[in-house]
Amino acid sequence: MDAAKLDSIIDGYNGDETAILAILQDIQAEFNYLPKEAMKRVAEKLNVPFSRVSALATFFAAFALNPRGKHIVTVCMGTACHVRGAPRVLEEIERDLKIKSGENTPDMAFTIETVNCVGACALGPLVIVNGNYHGNLTTSEVTGMIDQYRGQ
Ligand code: FES
Repeated sequence: MDAAKLDSIIDGYNGDETAILAILQDIQAEFNYLPKEAMKRVAEKLNVPFSRVSALATFFAAFALNPRGKHIVTVCMGTACHVRGAPRVLEEIERDLKIKSGENTPDMAFTIETVNCVGACALGPLVIVNGNYHGNLTTSEVTGMIDQYRGQ
C-alpha cells in the first residue's frame, strides 16, 4: 500500500470527519479495496474511533474489505439476468479465468463477483467489467470480452 498516496487522499478532505464515506470511496478507487491499515489511518488522521470507520465500511456493500484484482468482473445474477442465461455466462467466465465467483486470479489481474440486479434488466444477461457494461452476453462472447482486459 502506498502510504503517501493514502495520506494525500485523506489530507485532500482537510480533516473533515463528515467526509469519511467519500474518503473510503476514494481509497477503494485507488487500491481496488479497503485495506484495514488504510481504515486505521483514516481513523487516526481524522481523530475518530476505528470502530466508526470500520462500521461504515462493513455496512455499505459497495466496499470490498479483501484484496481484489485489477479488473473486477461483475456478473448480474438478478432474476431477469438469471432467466436469460446468467448462470451459464458465469460458468463460462469461471472456466475461462480458472477461478470461482468471489476469487481472484493468482496474478491479481481479475476478480469475479456477482450482484443482484443493477437496474439494467433489458441488457440481461449483463456483465460489468470495471464499470463497462457488456449486455446481452452469450457464452461464446465471454472469452472475447475478457480478452479486451487481458494484459491491460
Ligand atoms: S436482473 Fe440483471 S440488471 Fe436486473
